[in-house]
Amino acid sequence: MAVGGLPNNLSADMHAALLNYITAHRQRFLDELFDWLRIPSVSAQPQHRPDMDRAAQWLADRLSELGPTTVELLPTPGLPIVYAEFRVGPDAPTVLIYGHYDVQPAEPFELWESPPFEPRLGLLGGEEKIFARGACDDKGQVYMHVKATEALLRNGGLPCNLKFFIEGEEEVGSEHLAQAILDHKDRLACDVVLISDTAMIANDHPSITVGLRGIAYMEVSVYGPNRDLHSGVYGGAVANPINVLCELIAQLKDEQGRITIPGFYDAVEELSAEERAEMARIHFDLEAYKAALNLPAVSGEAGYTTLERGSIRPTLDVNGIWGGYQGQGSKTVLPAEAHAKISMRLVPNQDPATVAQQFADYLRQLAPPTVRIEVRELHGGQPFVMPTGAPAYKAAEAALTQTYGTKPIPAREGGSIPIVATFARELGVDVVLLGFGLNSDALHSPNENFGTFNYFKGIESLALFHHHLSAQPRA
Ligand code: BES
Ligand code: ZN
Repeated sequence: MAVGGLPNNLSADMHAALLNYITAHRQRFLDELFDWLRIPSVSAQPQHRPDMDRAAQWLADRLSELGPTTVELLPTPGLPIVYAEFRVGPDAPTVLIYGHYDVQPAEPFELWESPPFEPRLGLLGGEEKIFARGACDDKGQVYMHVKATEALLRNGGLPCNLKFFIEGEEEVGSEHLAQAILDHKDRLACDVVLISDTAMIANDHPSITVGLRGIAYMEVSVYGPNRDLHSGVYGGAVANPINVLCELIAQLKDEQGRITIPGFYDAVEELSAEERAEMARIHFDLEAYKAALNLPAVSGEAGYTTLERGSIRPTLDVNGIWGGYQGQGSKTVLPAEAHAKISMRLVPNQDPATVAQQFADYLRQLAPPTVRIEVRELHGGQPFVMPTGAPAYKAAEAALTQTYGTKPIPAREGGSIPIVATFARELGVDVVLLGFGLNSDALHSPNENFGTFNYFKGIESLALFHHHLSAQPRA
């Protein structure tokens, strides 16, 4: 009998040895991650540039300790990429592990129950969690790979060649990464790209991510009079840029929650009735979802479920809006300008550049002649889907079946990892999204956390993934 392609006895022994090792080194695996989490590697904020370098160097040092063939920092015009290679031989498959060492800004700090860069263990819903910015997204998940590598090296060796490619600009759109992939294309040659930067459905419902949404991120500015004006003297006679911006935004969706930008849905891939029926079988508790977010009701495009709205349908959201007076008390002012950051999440076949153009054209057409408007694209990323028949998917499925005791299901997710489509296209390989977070881990929010169960299950599962991949017949 074989479990996921490996003979039962081999797989059971190896699995036990790995588990013993991980259990024996549990405290150190946590302590090391905590050290990394203490470095505030916020890519969006220039004052953290020294911290970015420190976080990259810290990771390179930990990888060095494992005795790789190569480890170096690859410079880019932006933040460095941590690159390491563990070579075992030309007959073994090669896995390129991608992730990011940058984190989202932690603001607003006052909403954190403990400081974001002072990691701690705490209980949440009866589960032990690591609380820190980056605990799940993505330092905790990147570090699972480092510790899975260590566990393999100390227990019989690596079954695959491993290449680590860990960037520092994912949370700000991976601006320099596509060029870096082209520049280093030869070194990045691999059989599969493996990424842990996504979530599972639940700890008792393991899943493998088979789709990510793309993104088109825009900034809109509306300009009115040449200075802020007295709102009593001029109000009613001069267009107010904030009012105009709100009116424009309000026109971007109709009462059905559909986006009104001409052409926006033209390329959208509609799921078949069978695919939607399959999705409807995914474990999802709407009441628990609402309760967790303290929502009076959910909202979204008519005719779609909450799970569908959050994964297989495109969206448009204002991420920030500003202008006028925001200080204490009141100031009677008619502001000279107003701004908004607006992102659209995209689904397969939608192209970020086309959507950005459609958005800009439509806003310019809607804008009244009483103001001047500027629309800029900040960044974009392609959506991604992967077939569940791919050999690398099968290896992931076998690994999770072995570690969770139940077969994982494929699931599409709503977040974006812009570079995934570039990897698939430029390297011509499958990309496996094997993430161990949960959507309830408060990614990008105050009190971000990552279950210790998930961290250690991730280390165990990733180590087994390499064994299952290497046991597959090679093309
Ligand atoms: N880890 C997330 C992406 C993610 C989260 C995928 C949850 C699936 C489930 C990643 O770090 C992220 O936040 N990406 C950004 C990309 C953006 C800045 C272009 C995102 O999705 O907002
Ligand atoms: Zn993120």
